[in-house]
Amino acid sequence: MLQLGVLISGRGTNLQAIIDACEAGKVPAKVAVVIANDPSAGGLERAKKHNIPAVVIDNRQFRDKHIYELEIVKVLKEHAVGLVCLAGYMRIVGQVLLAHYPQKIVNIHPSLLPSFPGLNAQKQALDHGVTVTGCTVHYVDEGCDTGPIIVQSAVPVKEDDTEETLSARILEQEHHIYPLAIEFIAKDKLQVEGRKVRLK
Ligand code: GRF
Repeated sequence: MLQLGVLISGRGTNLQAIIDACEAGKVPAKVAVVIANDPSAGGLERAKKHNIPAVVIDNRQFRDKHIYELEIVKVLKEHAVGLVCLAGYMRIVGQVLLAHYPQKIVNIHPSLLPSFPGLNAQKQALDHGVTVTGCTVHYVDEGCDTGPIIVQSAVPVKEDDTEETLSARILEQEHHIYPLAIEFIAKDKLQVEGRKVRLK
């Protein structure tokens, strides 16, 4: 069974959605390890509640990003991880992780990429005045939120939306599409051709 390594920085609601989908048998995969770069990440508790190893690798303790990422790779390998899932992981993935897991790292982003990459995507969407935004699961490459797109879900923007209300509605969709994308990968249903990801 596909072993997942989930990288987090915060509360971990996407992590929870992935754990739940795996435990319910909807996704033929198992969360083998959760790694947080921030010791205060709430998602660590979620992992512990499900008896999943929860490891802190604090990026601030490393001067060199290569060495930091080598430490992450070491833990991922110890748990035989086949797919790395970034779930609110607030660091840019570097060469070391990418080289060890080519096309085996995925991310969720709260906008319809390529619109609004980077930080505060929901605020960017509101500020821009779009009427539709959403979320995207994509493969991770060397750019910031630039890799091939696996699944997207559209969310209408309401006139009276605040960053909070819009983020909450997008998050609901995130919790659907992230497990779905992982299910496709676990069932070997995806084929990547350049920027295009096709269902086999
Ligand atoms: C989500 O909005 C995700 O799209 C973004 O960071 C947030 C993480 O939320 N990358 P959570 O920690 O999964 O609750």
